[in-house]
Amino acid sequence: MSDKSDRRDFLVKLGLGAGVVGVGLQGVASLRSLVPNVSYDPPTTVKLGPPGDFPDGLKFLPDERLFVFREGKTFYAISAVCTHLGCTVRAEALPQPETAEVNGRPVRLTHRYLCPCHGSRYRGDGQNVSGPAPRPLAWYRLTVAPDDGQLVVDLADEVDRDFRLTVA
Ligand code: FES
Repeated sequence: MSDKSDRRDFLVKLGLGAGVVGVGLQGVASLRSLVPNVSYDPPTTVKLGPPGDFPDGLKFLPDERLFVFREGKTFYAISAVCTHLGCTVRAEALPQPETAEVNGRPVRLTHRYLCPCHGSRYRGDGQNVSGPAPRPLAWYRLTVAPDDGQLVVDLADEVDRDFRLTVA
């Protein structure tokens, strides 16, 4: 084979190689463009305010659709989102507090919940008792923000119904 033909072969291969690399890089760039640099999902952790702003008993937070309960230094949070089709349930105070056993531990119940859409009813700890709701109301993890001491709920972190946050 002549030097000229070797050189032509080399240049053809070089050209093909560059073309393949170029197409590959373009493919990677195209795929990368499908992944946004910024997330527009709402954050799942929300600051709710200083613990001292919560009265003993129940406080409803409409923006988070959340019931926050306080018993002295102890806090827990129950979702107000009906597990049937997502309407906001209403809390009704019980005429007399009741005690229910949740995970082997007695829990004092002061309210029950009623869904205005299709009539599902829930016990004070969120247990569904009647209507089309397929499961209990969610409980979410509460923590204290390390920077300013506010209560923080993580709406992506469901916890058992015996969860309690104790604030010093
Ligand atoms: S959305 Fe609550 S019962 Fe249907």
